[in-house]
Amino acid sequence: MGFTDHHVQHYRDHGYAIIENFLDATELDSARDEIDLFIPGWLEYAANPTGEKPEGWNEPPRSRRTMRFPFKGSQLNAITLHPELRRFASIFAESDDLFCEQSDLHYKCKGHYADADQVMHLDYMNHTLAYPPNLPEYWQTAFLLYYTDVTLDAAPTAVCSWTHYKDEILWPTAYEQKDRTELYENEVKVVVPAGSVLAYSMRTFHRGTAFKEEAARVGHFITYSPARPKWLGILGWPEQGVYGSFQKWMSEATLEERELLGFPKPGDSYWTEETRAGVAARFPDMDMSPYLAL
Ligand SMILES: [Fe+2]
Repeated sequence: MGFTDHHVQHYRDHGYAIIENFLDATELDSARDEIDLFIPGWLEYAANPTGEKPEGWNEPPRSRRTMRFPFKGSQLNAITLHPELRRFASIFAESDDLFCEQSDLHYKCKGHYADADQVMHLDYMNHTLAYPPNLPEYWQTAFLLYYTDVTLDAAPTAVCSWTHYKDEILWPTAYEQKDRTELYENEVKVVVPAGSVLAYSMRTFHRGTAFKEEAARVGHFITYSPARPKWLGILGWPEQGVYGSFQKWMSEATLEERELLGFPKPGDSYWTEETRAGVAARFPDMDMSPYLAL
């Protein structure tokens, strides 16, 4: 599984790539088991939408905590930092020095508050404080992973190749159909089996479409940025620091995984006797041996 040269080339040429069956069966099954715990009944309903909708189906989650990295469990966390997602993002950022800036689980069904026929838009309004140039050192790649089958009637994402808006200053970031018909006429609907992924950029027009029949969709937004620019990224991970699952994940993560969330690397001037002792106190199960005091 994973990306091929064909996907990489398609992303270069069109600003997006669709990778069917990106996850292997074990990854998908195990992710779906975790999802079942967060949103009971949704996967069952997605598989058979003739039945009752899940309890509380149209209420916002009581806490967005359970729907955002780090998740309770390990599979959705592993998918967030999937080596193939990182490899793909790093090809376009031309660097392995990446920051994972987003990992959010999303779900919706027909009639749900998130069920909408969106307008064609770019995502950069909440992924950068500035503007996304066509340069690798600022290149952000967004992934939308699907955990349920996406049919034509089940709200497929629509995406329009950047061959239709090449060499423009990408402003405004949204167009209604009447104002920019060709973006809609040239859209491609991402109809894929569960376990597939759409990769797209901050310079790629796309939109969510509405459900046309009773159905449900569970997806996972994961985005990578180059690590250095502080103006990139949808949120700051320290907000999650108060939760037990974050504590656990931080303690068990590899050095590389921690760095993907912005944690200081071994050798960084951050590491002193004091910070070493402080971090060890905060994360008693973390192996502190790579973080030598400078
Ligand atoms: Fe979007």
